[in-house]
Amino acid sequence: MIKKIGILTSGGDAPGMNACIRAITRTAIYNNMEVLGFIRGYEGLIDNKFLELKRESVSGIIQKGGTILKTARSERFRTDEGMQFAVNHLKENNIEALVVIGGDGSFRGAIELSKHANIPIVGCAGTIDNDLVGTDFTIGYDTAINTAIEAIDKIRDTAESHDRIFVVEVMGRDAGLIAIRSAIASGAEAVLVPEIKQDTDDLIKKIKNWRSTKSSKIIVVAEGDESGGAYKVADIVKQHNPEFDVRVSVLGHIQRGGNPSCMERVNASIVGFNAVKALLNGKSGEMIGIVNKQITFTPFEKAVKHHQKLNKDLEELIEVLSS
Ligand code: F6P
Repeated sequence: MIKKIGILTSGGDAPGMNACIRAITRTAIYNNMEVLGFIRGYEGLIDNKFLELKRESVSGIIQKGGTILKTARSERFRTDEGMQFAVNHLKENNIEALVVIGGDGSFRGAIELSKHANIPIVGCAGTIDNDLVGTDFTIGYDTAINTAIEAIDKIRDTAESHDRIFVVEVMGRDAGLIAIRSAIASGAEAVLVPEIKQDTDDLIKKIKNWRSTKSSKIIVVAEGDESGGAYKVADIVKQHNPEFDVRVSVLGHIQRGGNPSCMERVNASIVGFNAVKALLNGKSGEMIGIVNKQITFTPFEKAVKHHQKLNKDLEELIEVLSS
């Protein structure tokens, strides 16, 4: 029996992390475990900063964005000294298992930690980018795409009024999944993502073919696209179409905040609940995900290795619907 577990949130925060913390805490307490929530991710393990989490500690947080445990991208955790402090503090606090909520970098940290700490570690996928293999939706993605389309809808109003082209940059350091869905849902005229090779000539050609009957055009660009971002794309568009009035809008961190959507809260609760069940069933080194409504377990090494492949149908859909 596991008597005491630790939880941490690491990397970029994502709406729904609090719902996950709540589910882990309450499921663990239901199973007679004590829970420590480490503050600022791996930094909290290194500095021995934590909160004792009780049932009431996680009351009233399911609807809140961000993470009550705070988060960080820890450089110190990459050092031998940082790792040693973290391992010692796990021992000192009698932590017998750990749940890491985060993305790619957080799970790479978990892989390293499990080489030094002799306890089971499982993960809940938490990142707005949705760029992990082994789950259909990461915690934060649904809310982020809803935030993005709300913003793009507003941009559409002003773009339409001024007959302008807008280049809108959305987050996604290595993946275009936020861009793809927000482009489809907002009826964007073009989308640039790292997963689809598209040189500037293709974009120029596309712009030339745009129907003159439609007065506003929106190009959604993923932050990680090789075009180099919205400002570069806007320059190219202007260069080839001096007659167009072009504006740029970089949505930035608003995509990381806000109240989690219903789907987010439910999925985060399911994943958190199953993370504790997984520990009770002797699992370790795996990320808990949901694929086709089924709970799945993916080794950390696999979850971080590849990005989700872009659905070919979506690629075609964008092409057809934006033509
Ligand atoms: O959490 C993922 C993400 O939002 C990426 O889409 C983005 O590139 C990055 O985090 C930004 O990180 P930071 O807030 O540390 O600048």
